[in-house]
Amino acid sequence: MVEEDLDNIAAMLGDPEVMRYYPATRTRAEALDWILGNQRRYAEHGFGLWVIETRDGTFIGDLGITWQQVNGQPRLEVGYHVRSDAQGQGFATEAALAAREYARSVLGANELVAIIHPENLASRRVAEHLGMTQVDLDYGHPWITRVVMGMTFPRYGV
Ligand SMILES: CC(C)(COP(=O)(O)OP(=O)(O)OC[C@H]1O[C@@H](n2cnc3c(N)ncnc32)[C@H](O)[C@@H]1OP(=O)(O)O)[C@@H](O)C(=O)NCCC(=O)NCCS
Repeated sequence: MVEEDLDNIAAMLGDPEVMRYYPATRTRAEALDWILGNQRRYAEHGFGLWVIETRDGTFIGDLGITWQQVNGQPRLEVGYHVRSDAQGQGFATEAALAAREYARSVLGANELVAIIHPENLASRRVAEHLGMTQVDLDYGHPWITRVVMGMTFPRYGV
């Protein structure tokens, strides 16, 4: 994610359809903060939310891995947003499967979670495609109890 993505990120995070399960849409200035925040994550952890694009470079959305708090404990989360006119074509699932593989093989993660608004069935479906099941509830939000979907990575060998 680079500053040249600002037009695309601002359009996506400014779209009420994409932000339906968030408190509000984001302004262009907030979209810039989103990009800069992810660049800080790359510097600090080596990963964050990345841009999803097609092979010809068309912007689809963002998706990636971040540290999030579940009831005060840090958990590695996969998160995703897809432009509303590109939804329903399998992009989030395809990209999330790649992120899951990155978490397993590059990060050596033990588990991966997705923290989801209880009514966000599309997001839940993507998590299910990753092999996730409900593992927890998160009470960190002031009025919404969010569902925590998760999976652990099997360990082979001696
Ligand atoms: C969640 C999101 C990223 C999914 O992106 P996508 O590219 O459309 O996802 P996919 O096409 O890979 O899969 C979506 C799945 O949800 C299903 N789905 C979509 N809308 C649904 C709905 N209203 N109810 C139930 N299932 C729904 C689709 O049928 C599909 O499942 P299937 O493969 O079993 O048919 C996209 O809806 C989005 O950007 N939402 C807004 C941002 C958001 O809420 N992000 C998640 C924060 S936790």
